[in-house]
Amino acid sequence: MSFYFVLFLCSLITVNCEYVTKKLCKEVNQSHCKINYVSVDPCSKGPRFCNIKTDKIYDIDVNFTPKFSAERLQYAIYGDFDNTYTFYNIIDSPRNACDAIDCPLRRTSLAHTANFKLKLDKKASGKFPVKVKFWNQDNADQVCCFTFNVKSDNFKANEI
Ligand SMILES: *[C@@H]1O[C@H](CO)[C@@H](O)[C@H](O)[C@H]1NC(C)=O
Repeated sequence: MSFYFVLFLCSLITVNCEYVTKKLCKEVNQSHCKINYVSVDPCSKGPRFCNIKTDKIYDIDVNFTPKFSAERLQYAIYGDFDNTYTFYNIIDSPRNACDAIDCPLRRTSLAHTANFKLKLDKKASGKFPVKVKFWNQDNADQVCCFTFNVKSDNFKANEI
């Protein structure tokens, strides 16, 4: 499906569905997974970044083409609150991804969609990238990974 066709579908389904500009993770071998597009709902200020209110739940829809098969999948979401490309801040620690993606995953040329939920707590402040990563639980080299930028509405006292 072309990007523009998907955009059209998206606008039919909900006015809030917004594409966000994604980047691929530098440290991950990209040959195992093709990330086609990512939408965040809602994403005001998209596509360059999404404005995020703390304690509100956002949908992250990922359209991807897996180049691997997996019986079990895991996912995790990290934040890079200090913008140092370390992604030390854990938003969701590694957990079962089979609620977000139908398991088992089969290697195919067809695109799949995964749905993750994003919820930031009060520790997240300012503008920073979020990393979403999901992988084969039995082979951690087989990874799909991307980042996108968010701006939290929460500010630390010393930033005001
Ligand atoms: C990435 O994975 C592919 C497929 O397994 C492999 O052929 C390639 O050598 C890997 N590249 C790097 C840089 O590890």
